[in-house]
Amino acid sequence: MGKQKKALVCGAGGFIGGHLVNRLKEEGYWVRGVDLKENEFGNMNADEFIIGDLRDADVVEKVVTSDLDEVYQLAADMGGAGFVFTGDNDSDIMHNSALCNLHVIEEIKKKGIEKSFYSSSACIYPERNQLDPDNPMCSEDSAYPADPDSEYGWEKLFSERLYLTYRRNHNIDAKIARFHNIFGPQGTWEGGREKAPAAICRKVAEAEEGGSVEVWGDGKQTRSFLIVDECVEGIRRLMESDFSGPVNIGSDEMISIQDFTKMVIDISGKDLSIKNIEGPEGVKGRNSDNQLIDEKLGWAPSKPLREGVEKTYQWILDQIRQRETVDA
Ligand code: NAD
Ligand code: GDD
Repeated sequence: MGKQKKALVCGAGGFIGGHLVNRLKEEGYWVRGVDLKENEFGNMNADEFIIGDLRDADVVEKVVTSDLDEVYQLAADMGGAGFVFTGDNDSDIMHNSALCNLHVIEEIKKKGIEKSFYSSSACIYPERNQLDPDNPMCSEDSAYPADPDSEYGWEKLFSERLYLTYRRNHNIDAKIARFHNIFGPQGTWEGGREKAPAAICRKVAEAEEGGSVEVWGDGKQTRSFLIVDECVEGIRRLMESDFSGPVNIGSDEMISIQDFTKMVIDISGKDLSIKNIEGPEGVKGRNSDNQLIDEKLGWAPSKPLREGVEKTYQWILDQIRQRETVDA
């Protein structure tokens, strides 16, 4: 039997980080998690969990230890359209996420850790290629000349470039994936940071029979949504491969927000109408281009969207019921 591998997951109190910790545990790793907060759904199984602020270089110095084989950097100040596209959180997003990224990769270098993972985003792609909802372009090589539509996207692009410099100058295998709207159980579903899949599931679950569901924009904007299990599968396959990216990890099953809402309503079995209202919209169209991941990893996400939405709708319904029981 080989030596047990040790990993650090930064952002383990969050959605994808929590799922990643559990996946690494299933694979036999020893895992340390770090985050500003506990994983709120209480099912993250790290061997050691440290509450710490990665904006503080002293904290990073303590959690990134030289005995680690791998570091996964998922900590970020992030949210859905209601958080990243209003402009109100731009300085926090830039300052907080950039500091975490700067400290973590520098400490990886100092401690001589050879392999790491950085979670970038589809938000790095130029706005000009995402104006037509039916024909968005998000191939990896379309990232430059850069023109992301949000400061969140610019920070992600800066940090991709930061990790790439450590790859070039210090020979660290810094792997990079660009996630496309990841959803599923244990994801943020209320409070203002939730993304469309969770927000729409919550609105449908809370709606009275015969009522309506509010959707931001005209609903013609398109997206693809990837269930978190496949995101984690993609991360692990990338880490085990000799390819480093940047590479898209996303679904290529594009759907309009209106059709997505109709799907959730259908799953709920309720009789509901859709009310389109003004709201932060982001780009008009976005879909993951999976040619590169398929070519380099011999694998691409393939689970049907509806399967993930059914699971997520049920999980959010359960959260609402639990909250009602506690409030009663
Ligand atoms: P999340 O918000 O659930 O998790 C991020 C975690 O980082 C949070 O628990 C937060 O407390 C933690 N964090 C923030 N600042 C920190 C700090 N200073 N010190 C320590 N911890 C800190 O988000 P997620 O959906 O799990 O996303 C994980 C990563 O993937 C993020 O980098 C995000 O930008 C990226 N990403 C996610 C998506 C998506 O659709 N979920 C899409 C593209 C990119
Ligand atoms: N959040 C949310 N809530 N979005 C809604 C709602 C709602 O109630 N109703 C309609 N939408 C629309 C938004 O206006 C947007 O056009 C679309 O649904 C998708 O919104 P989000 O899921 O919130 O964000 P996004 O896809 O634009 O961007 C997200 O994904 C990126 C990666 O693909 C963000 O989470 C980014 O931070 C992330 O990097």
